[in-house]
Amino acid sequence: MSPGKPTILVTGGAGYIGSHTVLALKQAGFDVIILDNLVYGHRDLVEKVLQVELVVGDTGDRALLDDLFKTHDVAAVIHFSAYAYVGESVSDPAKYYRNNVLGTLTLLEAMLAASVKNFVFSSTCATYGVPEVVPIPEDHPQNPINPYGATKLMVERILSDFDVAYGFKSVRFRYFNAAGADPNGRLGEDHNPETHLIPLVLQTALGKRESISVFGTDYPTPDGTCIRDYIHVSDLADAHVLGLEYLLKGGDSEVFNLGNGNGFSVKEVIETAKQVTGKDIKVVECDRRPGDPPALIGSGDKAKKILGWHPQYSSLKEIITHAWQWHQSRHQ
Ligand SMILES: NC(=O)c1ccc[n+]([C@@H]2O[C@H](COP(=O)([O-])OP(=O)(O)OC[C@H]3O[C@@H](n4cnc5c(N)ncnc54)[C@H](O)[C@@H]3O)[C@@H](O)[C@H]2O)c1
Repeated sequence: MSPGKPTILVTGGAGYIGSHTVLALKQAGFDVIILDNLVYGHRDLVEKVLQVELVVGDTGDRALLDDLFKTHDVAAVIHFSAYAYVGESVSDPAKYYRNNVLGTLTLLEAMLAASVKNFVFSSTCATYGVPEVVPIPEDHPQNPINPYGATKLMVERILSDFDVAYGFKSVRFRYFNAAGADPNGRLGEDHNPETHLIPLVLQTALGKRESISVFGTDYPTPDGTCIRDYIHVSDLADAHVLGLEYLLKGGDSEVFNLGNGNGFSVKEVIETAKQVTGKDIKVVECDRRPGDPPALIGSGDKAKKILGWHPQYSSLKEIITHAWQWHQSRHQ
C-alpha cells in the first residue's frame, strides 16, 4: 500500500467507466484491486494500462468476497459491476435482478461482515423515469420505466436502509450518458454489443456499420431529435475519486447527479462527429422508440458544491474527439 493511502476495491474495474476510474485512483495515489468477472470487461486493458491486481470473479460469490476482504485491507468499495442493457432488462429481467440487486446485496453483506462501510455506487438517471422537469434535480421523483432502472433504484433503497441500520455510508452517483475516452488515448469505450450513440456513430464513421439510425425526428425539441446529457468519462472518474475521499473523511451518505447540465440532440452529435472525423456518416431516420423521453439532462451543481467537482471536458467536440482517437486505435 502507498504510504497514507488506503486500498480500494473496484468492482467492474475492467469495464468502461470503472477502468477510467481506476486510472484516476492510481493517479491520486490509491492502491486498487479490481473484481471483475470479465463478462464484459477487458483483461488486456487491466494488464497493459491499469497494471493493478485483477481478481476474476463474481460479486455474487460470497466465499470469494470473504476471502478477498480477509486477504486485503480494503477501506472502501467503488461498485461499477452490473448489467446495463435497458432492452435486455425488459426481455430478461431475472438476469438483471439477480446480478444488479442480488449480486450487490451479496457484496454489501460481505462488506458488513468485514466492517468495510464506505461504498460508492453507480446509479443512473434511468431511476428517474420520464422527467417532470429538466435539468433533473436529485430530489426529483424516481419512477423507473424499465427493469434496469428499477434494479438501480432498489440498490439505492438498500443503501439508505443500511445507513440507518448499520451506519453504512454511501455516495450514490446518478450518471447521465457517459461518453468520450481517456484524453491520452490509453482507455476508451468498448462495449459489445454497443448501444450508446457516440460509439455507434463513430463505428459508422469507421465503416464498421453501414448507417446510424435516428429514432424519432418529431420530438418537441429544436431539431426534433432526442436531447441527452453527455458527460466525459474522465470527469466521471474524477467525481468518483472525490466521492471516495469525501466518504473516507467521514462524509455522510449523499446522492449526486453527474451530468453536464447541457444537452445535445442526436442530430448535433452526428453533425459534430462528421466534423471531428471528416467522414460522411449515413443516417437512417426511423420511428420513435417506446420509452425514450424527449430530453434527459442533469445538473452536476450539487457535486460541484459539495465535492468540489470541476468537470474539464464539457464540449461535445472534445468528448467526440477523445472517443474518435480511441476508436481509431482500438478498432482499425
Ligand atoms: N455507461 C453509461 O452511460 C452509464 C450510465 C449510467 C449508469 N451506468 C452504470 O455504470 C456502471 C458501469 O457502466 P459501464 O458502461 O462501465 O459498463 P461495463 O459493462 O463497461 O462495465 C461493467 C463491468 O462489470 C463487470 N461485471 C458485470 N457483472 C459482474 C459481476 N456480477 N461480478 C463481477 N463483475 C461484473 C463486467 O465484466 C464489466 O467489466 C454500471 O453499473 C452501469 O449500470 C453506466
